[in-house]
Order: sequence, then C-alpha cells, then structure tokens
Amino acid sequence: MPTILAIESSCDETAAAVVCDRQILSSVVSSQIQTHALYGGVVPEIAARQHVETINPAIAQAYRESGKTWSEIDGIAVTTAPGLIGSLMIGVTAAKTLAMLHKKTLIAVHHLEGHICSALLADPTLEPPFLCLLVSGGHSSIILVKDYTDYQVMGKTRDDAAGEAFDKVARLLGLGYPGGPVIDKISSSGNPKAYKLPQGRIPDFPYDSSFSGLKTAVLRLTQKLSPNGEELPIADIAASFQETVAAALATRSIKCAIEHNLSTIVAVGGVAANSALRSRLVTMSAENNIRAIFPPLSLCTDNAAMIGCAGAIHLSRGETSSMGIATRSRLNL
Ligand code: KG4
Ligand code: ZN
Repeated sequence: MPTILAIESSCDETAAAVVCDRQILSSVVSSQIQTHALYGGVVPEIAARQHVETINPAIAQAYRESGKTWSEIDGIAVTTAPGLIGSLMIGVTAAKTLAMLHKKTLIAVHHLEGHICSALLADPTLEPPFLCLLVSGGHSSIILVKDYTDYQVMGKTRDDAAGEAFDKVARLLGLGYPGGPVIDKISSSGNPKAYKLPQGRIPDFPYDSSFSGLKTAVLRLTQKLSPNGEELPIADIAASFQETVAAALATRSIKCAIEHNLSTIVAVGGVAANSALRSRLVTMSAENNIRAIFPPLSLCTDNAAMIGCAGAIHLSRGETSSMGIATRSRLNL
C-alpha cells in the first residue's frame, strides 16, 4: 500500500494531497474561482501566476496534515496532461523539485485518469469493470474502465464540454460564472418542459455528444422570446436547458452501460453535481439494475487526492516516470 504525495494544478485549482492507497490522509484545494469569475472564465496567464503563489503553502499543509514524514512517503504523483500548459508546469516543477530533494520516485498522472480514480476513493468496494461518466468544464466523456489503468473512451463531445455549455448558457442569460451551480439553482423554480431543445445526437455515434448546437438553440430562443429586450422567463429557459443536458448524458451513458454489460456507473467532474443529471441517472440506473455512484463534490471537482490514488496504482505496478517528464496541453487517455 504505497503512500503518495500528489500535486494537481492543471487548471484553476492548486491542490496537494497525501493518500495511502485508497485512503485520503490529507487533501488541500486552493481555488481561484473568485479571481476568474471577474473575467467570466479562466484566464490562463492569471491561473499560472496564482499557482506559483499557492503551490508551496498547499503542499506544506497537505504534508503537515497527513501526519506522515518524508521517510514514509513512497512517491510523488503529479498531473502532467492535459490542461493549461503554464498551470501544469508549476505543479510538475514542484513535483520534480521535491522528488530530487527527498529522493522520491516520480509518477506522471493523466488528469482524466485522476478523475476516474476519484470513484475508487469514494467507494472502497468499487472494482473495475465499471462505466465512468466524466463531465466537467473541460471534459465530457463516457469511459469504459476495463481494469485498473485500462481505459477505453466510448464517447466524447465533438465541441463544448458539458460544463462549458452550462457556463456559456449562463453567460448569455446574464447569470455569471461559473454557470452550472447558478443554472441548477434557478432551474428549481422553472418548468423543465417549457421549451424543447436539441439533445445534440451524433448519427452513428450513440455515445458522443455535441453541445454547441444546444447553446445556439438557447440563444435563438432568447432572441425569439425577447426581440425588443422584454424580460425573459429565465427559470424556464434554464430548467429546459438543464433537463436537455441531463437527458442527453444520462441516456447515452446508461445505453453504453447496458450494451457493455456493466452493472456500475460512476459520475464524476463538476457537472456530476447537477441535480437533474443525478436524478435522471438514479432513476434510469434503478430501472436497469445498475448501481450508480456519485462521489462527494469535493472529489468530483479538481483535487490532488484523485491524482494520488492513480499514482498509488501505477507505483504498485512498477510504472514510474523519469525526471524528464514533460507537460502536454492535450493528450488522449
Ligand atoms: O470539475 P470542475 O470543477 O473543473 C474542471 O473543469 O476540471 O468542473 C467545473 C464545471 C463548470 O463548468 C461548472 O459550471 C460545472 O462544472 N458545474 C455544474 C454544477 N456545479 C459545477 N454544472 C451543472 N450543475 C452543477 N450543479
Ligand atoms: Zn478536471
């Protein structure tokens, strides 16, 4: 059971954690969301600068709170791809420095593999195979987890990620950033059946999605409903949009689970917090004898504990990285 110190800095969260196998000993997340909210989205240059300021305190706190000493730490795991290159570089530089200083093994982790592993942390009884619906601001994928470290991407978005769609629709409705939580909240007082919107199906690719057409459909709807600046039925529009995304994602992932004989589905990433998506998945899973797992939000959104869990799996298989590891803004799982 390796003990891993992990670092995650691929986007706008500076995170450090210590995990022992599938147990979280400490987990620190320093979010930049307030700063980026001023600009309506993540500004890469600002994100990288903030990581520089927060990375050392985050690592020190995670180390201190873990109760472990350096001699008890077996390796250092770090997200190397995909993500914002300037942000990734801060985490990787910190990881390399610590590995050199304390003579530890370095383990490169793919960010999406980290998200998948958040399910392993949330449910210690979970074993592959299972289906993972990974929906965040940057990703929207349906992944078949065949075994530890053996993944097959079954479906992905052709354009916007699910969270990106929430953020863009919130912006056009004047609801601010990040859009997901506010659309979720406002939808509770709206009618999800008020407007019919396109689910973004891709012919011949039943697990893929396209959300840019949905975003355009919401824009056209607002123009139609308010040609001269009349007040918009925001709650009804938000609820109809949310219901469309929830139905699209739940239907596609349940279909994939059934067609591949999988009895467990896990939903991770920031959008997995969405109430409409959760209730759809719960209902449809129950109808099809599928177990649905929703890790707590602290594990769904970016964190380093999930990177540590992936790192522990790789280290126990002898899969380690050299000091020459590079960062990549794009990399397939
Ligand atoms: O996983 P995450 O924190 O960051 C990454 O993108 O990696 O996901 C953030 C995304 C944002 O787009 C945000 O709007 C969305 O998750 N989100 C939600 C909800 N909470 C966060 N989307 C829908 N409903 C929510 N309740
Ligand atoms: Zn993420």
